Amino acid sequence: MCKNYFCTFAHLSKSDVHEVSLYIEQPVIEFYIQVKTVLLNKMLEVKVIKCDNPLYQQVLHLRNEVLRKPIGLSLFDEDLSQEVNQVIIAATANNDNKNSSDSDSQISQTVVGCVLLQLDEGDSSKKTFKLRQMTTHTDYHGKGIGRKLVEFAEKFSLSQGKDRIILNGRKVAVGFYNKMGFQVISDEFILSGIPHFKMEKYLSDKQCIVDYPPN
Ligand SMILES: CC(C)(COP(=O)(O)OP(=O)(O)OC[C@H]1O[C@@H](n2cnc3c(N)ncnc32)[C@H](O)[C@@H]1OP(=O)(O)O)[C@@H](O)C(=O)NCCC(=O)NCCS
Repeated sequence: MCKNYFCTFAHLSKSDVHEVSLYIEQPVIEFYIQVKTVLLNKMLEVKVIKCDNPLYQQVLHLRNEVLRKPIGLSLFDEDLSQEVNQVIIAATANNDNKNSSDSDSQISQTVVGCVLLQLDEGDSSKKTFKLRQMTTHTDYHGKGIGRKLVEFAEKFSLSQGKDRIILNGRKVAVGFYNKMGFQVISDEFILSGIPHFKMEKYLSDKQCIVDYPPN
């Protein structure tokens, strides 16, 4: 026999919010989650942004919430001034923000994931990027956003003549990076109080090259 779950759905349409609560069988819920994931992927955009883009503030807040607060730190205590020289990649989802007092429909964007690329100074050939600050919004973990961000970062790196990406991966995220084709290249070490491993991936030039229109 199927399990039933009591669910509340909220649908935002223009200026109205429609809400309905009902009992739903488990297979229907699984179908609903799949549809939601497909819709999210359709709405998802991955792009390079500059620090003066308003989306950068969302990137900072997301990183603070997901990467820093859980380990008792604040991103805003750190020196972020060098990020102007780094590549900031944001995954955004579009929101339909119809304001009742405003006749014009306005599309706004929510940052649901991000990752940064920084030139690895340790590589004298300048062909390595260091991937850092890999984050997806907690509500959207496991929906393929992390994969899209890494794939974008790899294609972008190739377009900039890089052939390798390195990173300091948290122990809890090593499985994710393994799935993305990264290998562990160090013993465990502690960074910001939590266990990490150095990881690397050599990039294949068979991967297609992305356009680079920063916005
Ligand atoms: C790690 C993180 C970036 C992954 O992003 P995500 O959007 O959840 O990942 P995806 O949905 O794209 O997952 C891609 C694949 O990796 C797997 N995966 C995701 N997180 C994983 C983890 N922690 N361990 C093992 N596998 C993982 C998924 O199951 C999926 O596998 P599949 O393709 O076989 O289905 C995200 O969980 C996160 O922000 N975590 C908290 C912050 C963090 O630890 N960042 C890393 C700092 S080094």
